[in-house]
Amino acid sequence: MDIRPECNDDINSIERVIIEAFKNHPHSNQTEHEIVAKLRNDNPLSVSLVAEVNNVIIGHIAFSKVNISGEFIEWYGLAPVSVEPEYQNQGVGSQLILSGLKAIRELNGKGCVLLGEPEYYNRFGFKAFSGLVFKGVPPEYFQSLLLSGDMPNGNVEYHKAFA
Ligand SMILES: CC(C)(COP(=O)(O)OP(=O)(O)OC[C@H]1O[C@@H](n2cnc3c(N)ncnc32)[C@H](O)[C@@H]1OP(=O)(O)O)[C@@H](O)C(=O)NCCC(=O)NCCS
Repeated sequence: MDIRPECNDDINSIERVIIEAFKNHPHSNQTEHEIVAKLRNDNPLSVSLVAEVNNVIIGHIAFSKVNISGEFIEWYGLAPVSVEPEYQNQGVGSQLILSGLKAIRELNGKGCVLLGEPEYYNRFGFKAFSGLVFKGVPPEYFQSLLLSGDMPNGNVEYHKAFA
């Protein structure tokens, strides 16, 4: 399996993988592919990686800038991450997350937030942190990973594509 940045020719395959991955997801309204398209069009898609097997895209991960207390302080949001159902539970998601975090570090990212199952994301070091607040969700599902510097405090806002 290869993991590499997306290119223009990947856009339809990425859309297909995201739709397939979230098809039966209980907390999804199946708009994740539209969010990624909007992020790409508005240009805040900071990192977008694909996982490929035999030249077929089977996974995707996106990271975009977030504001904390109204300011971009080099923190990013991980969302969404998608793996084609028949390739799930084989480490593809983990490799996408680890490669994505490496790319965020290379952008000099200071940290990353996400909304997701603590049981899955704790293994990458993500933890709920009471100082970083994302309104409207149970706090244990909003998790942060500090990459450098001090942990900031404040309300976190994603790009308007997530609205
Ligand atoms: C979540 C997802 C990206 C994980 O990718 P993956 O390649 O299947 O996961 P990995 O093979 O890296 O890891 C498998 C492990 O994660 C666990 N896991 C997967 N999804 C999980 C979830 N939603 N909640 C808790 N644990 C989960 C598996 O139980 C397995 O645990 P184990 O290592 O203890 O056996 C993938 O399952 C997916 O695309 N799901 C649908 C879309 C989604 O929910 N995206 C995340 C929200 S943005």
